[in-house]
Amino acid sequence: MSAGTLIDGKAFAAGLRQRVAGSVAKFVDVTGHKPGLAVILVGNDPASQVYVGSKKKATVEVGMESFEHRLPEDVPQSDLITLVERLNADTAVDGILVQLPLPSHIDDKAVIAAIDPAKDVDGFHVVNAGRLAVGEEAFVPCTPLGCLMLLKDQLGDLSGKNAVVIGRSNIVGKPMAQLLLGENCTVTIAHSRTQDLADVVRRADIVVAAVGRAEMVRGDWLKDGAIVIDVGINRLAPEGGEAKGRLVGDVAFDEALGHAGAITPVPGGVGPMTIACLLRNTMVAASRRAGLAMPEGL
Ligand code: GUN
Repeated sequence: MSAGTLIDGKAFAAGLRQRVAGSVAKFVDVTGHKPGLAVILVGNDPASQVYVGSKKKATVEVGMESFEHRLPEDVPQSDLITLVERLNADTAVDGILVQLPLPSHIDDKAVIAAIDPAKDVDGFHVVNAGRLAVGEEAFVPCTPLGCLMLLKDQLGDLSGKNAVVIGRSNIVGKPMAQLLLGENCTVTIAHSRTQDLADVVRRADIVVAAVGRAEMVRGDWLKDGAIVIDVGINRLAPEGGEAKGRLVGDVAFDEALGHAGAITPVPGGVGPMTIACLLRNTMVAASRRAGLAMPEGL
């Protein structure tokens, strides 16, 4: 059995960002203004600060306007919702993203519900989740959208494939399963209560692992030739003089290489696709709001 090939999410994401930049340039020519993405960050969570910084940089690099709003950790929920409503009404803003997690005194469902679904580039609003479920045009959460793009790039038509999604979160697992169903896959959603997970995974032509448990999926669980998309980003405890532990996925990568047909590495697989898809969704939101055709190649 030859070793599986690496799915280069970093390169695919760079190509997508370049196509978005081309669409932004055309949009600016036609409308005279830039697509705008507003990002709200509440509090000082270090990981969230890094994510928001990366989103801002990528937004500006493709030629869009970035509006950043930082609110203190103890901001009242009503103030946050008032800001969301102001951004809903702001014609310069095409997309709104509220960085999660929010502090515990804030009900994230109430905040997401306040976002205009037409500006919900994260695809978290129940209107977009519902549209995805019934097969209508929807904003789809960025991580599963990126995973689907990588799968279609590998396999072309996904019709009839057995797909197993491990994880049932609203942000990744559930929308991933909906997307695969939309591509005519036979979809199984596995989770922490699933019995005989190894047997379930063994039947899969496509495995999407999004559980958040380091190296949980073992190589010998995989059917030979399976396409493996690893959404997990887990930091191991430091070993032998390391300052920080290694980053690993939800799949035991070295083992999986001997079985999978192709696999995403961690880092450099799914991660870079998330921001690229956020820019893609913002470009689509701006085009729809301006009454323009869907941008090509996105
Ligand atoms: N926190 C971690 N990932 C995400 C994401 O994709 N969107 C938002 N809004 N918050 C996040």
